[in-house]
Amino acid sequence: MPRTACLTALVLISLLATNVSADEAAKARAIKLEQALTLDERISIVNGTWPVPWVPRTPDNPQPADAIPAAGYVPGVPRLNIPALFETDASLGVTNPSDVRPGDIATALPSGLAIAATFNPKLAYDGGAMIASEARAKGFNVLLTGGVNLTRDPRNGRNFEYFGEDPWLAGIMGAESIRGAQSQKIIATIKHFAVNDAETNRDWSNSVIGEAAMRESDLLAFQIAIERGNPLSVMCGYNLVNGDYACGNDHLLNTVLKGDWGYKGFVMSDWGSVKATDFALKGLDQQSAKELDGAFWFGEPLKKAVEDGSVPATRLSDMVQRILYAQIASGIFDNPPQKTAIDYAKNAEVSRAAAEEGIVLLKNDGGILPLAKTAQTILIIGDYVEKGVLSGGGSSNVTGDSGTPGLPQPGLPMSAEGQFAQYVKEQYHASSPLTAIRARAPQAKVLFDNGRSLNEAVRKAKTADLVIIFGNQWMTESLDAPDMYLPRGQDALIAAVTKANPKTVVILQTGGPVAMPWVDQTPAIVSAWYSGARGGEAIADVLFGEVNPSGHLPMTFPRDIAQTPRPAVLDGFDLPAKVQFDVTYHEGSDVGYRWFSKNGATPLFPFGHGLSYTTFDYSDLKVKGGSTLSVSFKVTNSGKFAGKDAPQVYLTDAAGRKLLRLIGFDKLDLKPGEHRTVSLTADARLLAHYDEAKPGWVIGGGSYGVAVGHSATDLVVKGSARIKSQRLKP
Ligand code: BGC
Repeated sequence: MPRTACLTALVLISLLATNVSADEAAKARAIKLEQALTLDERISIVNGTWPVPWVPRTPDNPQPADAIPAAGYVPGVPRLNIPALFETDASLGVTNPSDVRPGDIATALPSGLAIAATFNPKLAYDGGAMIASEARAKGFNVLLTGGVNLTRDPRNGRNFEYFGEDPWLAGIMGAESIRGAQSQKIIATIKHFAVNDAETNRDWSNSVIGEAAMRESDLLAFQIAIERGNPLSVMCGYNLVNGDYACGNDHLLNTVLKGDWGYKGFVMSDWGSVKATDFALKGLDQQSAKELDGAFWFGEPLKKAVEDGSVPATRLSDMVQRILYAQIASGIFDNPPQKTAIDYAKNAEVSRAAAEEGIVLLKNDGGILPLAKTAQTILIIGDYVEKGVLSGGGSSNVTGDSGTPGLPQPGLPMSAEGQFAQYVKEQYHASSPLTAIRARAPQAKVLFDNGRSLNEAVRKAKTADLVIIFGNQWMTESLDAPDMYLPRGQDALIAAVTKANPKTVVILQTGGPVAMPWVDQTPAIVSAWYSGARGGEAIADVLFGEVNPSGHLPMTFPRDIAQTPRPAVLDGFDLPAKVQFDVTYHEGSDVGYRWFSKNGATPLFPFGHGLSYTTFDYSDLKVKGGSTLSVSFKVTNSGKFAGKDAPQVYLTDAAGRKLLRLIGFDKLDLKPGEHRTVSLTADARLLAHYDEAKPGWVIGGGSYGVAVGHSATDLVVKGSARIKSQRLKP
């Protein structure tokens, strides 16, 4: 071995050894600390409170003096210097629910879908690090971030918070956002474990799915994100999974998470998801915001259960040790957060970078985009675009620098979700696309119409050189969309405007896929998702070509709901609360593009799709087999503009069985004419199926086919290699 290789190997070995021993030292220290605790102290560590003024307090549950009003608080043990946990939401920035900390703002990232659409893990890392730095600067040491639930249905109200439909993409982006967050010395969560893929009556919905299907889809996203991101806590979901509540699910928590995956951190409940003390036996380690549950299950009842032996004292010790381990390993024990000033302008640039790469150019007929700066009269139509960009609602909603995240409902008749929106108003971030577009087209007359009168909008559209119309779909936690249409008659508005002026560009701000019944009438469609603190600027930069779009869809856009696994109304939609119902995920692991491929259906826009102002060619594919697939190929910018590409590698064939699975992707920045070679090695589990009978991953072996493409349906170069038959641990 050459001397340099030898040295590198030695450094690696010693690094690994230091890591192992640092981890083991954290564990050993946690055990020692735990052993010094009294029973009451142990109990105090496993149940949290909701430290906000509107929670009724009793003498035995006072408002903790040192708590920061936010999502959660768990007391520490001052005599042993064990810090309290100061918990804040969420994945898209530090939240300030109901302005509980008056005037406290934070930097909003674009939605999770926008971040996933970048196909650029570094941006997920940077975003995670940025929001965690703000959390620490506000005094928090736990960030309830990292949602990796898969998009199984376009109507899920929380799709926008997550990373799309593919386990590899969601797993990688989840891992990076968590790694970024924990780089700041904070405990990050991953959530909502597991198969919490719809919001409708979520406390009563039972996700029914086969074991193998679950391991190959939703659980695989968690497994990848946990292995690579090492989140120090996991939040279990509200829903039931195959008959047991996710937070009291022995199989999910004890067998899969802590058993098969050897997870060392702690499991915290979602807010109001604990139903019994024996959830402790099923693997739950901490009850969050106990006031939201039917009882303080992990308080006095757990203490009694430990005293009478129905919950072994060793189990309580394990719960506490896991929490202390997370505190030590994260660095919050030895480096508690300090309140410091935040450079919001600098942090907004982190958000802007993600927005710019996450915006997806869906359609661009005749190269109408980028916009010529010579247009005389540009008409902008859309609700709120004079104020800002839409944001999703619920616990992930960040109060940005407008300080006023709620918008009044417009005067149009309310659609079904309006009833909910009455009290949870649509929200926006103050980064106005109208202002940003005006700034980039100073020579043009930029007119604005809020689109609330169809006739008025059509009349103005007829006289403009160019129209830019926004289609807004506000989505929120706790509520699924009734269908795939834009609310409040916006589809009819877009149809009428595009008919009146064929030079109309549609900008979508949605929480996921929408149907677009007007798709053939417009030359250009841009998906901006919810684009965060600098969304307006990012949209304008893409429109005017200052940024070459490079976002790719992290989920399939179906033509309509009839193409999806649940073509009828969502399960549970018509049921009153407190009635349990099943959501049967009969598509199993064939989620999204895999469902479309299996059924030979053509979506409106496929997974992975995203246009650029330049073109990219793929060539020179080399495929190597063995225990997994390794591929290399050349990417060339064959167009006229510099731009970023997200080449995608799919498995297309496993020993004669046709299938379609994303097994790798990259993001490259290339000048015109420049080329680069991409080399990727697939995680072998992506080639496997899960064997329930003899638990583990099985690769049959034989000839495996791969393709490199621009999307799940635009596969450009193909190859294959022989893979050996093998089994991998669960
Ligand atoms: C959400 C979680 C969130 C928690 C705390 C719950 O309603 O499901 O994602 O972290 O509230 O606010």
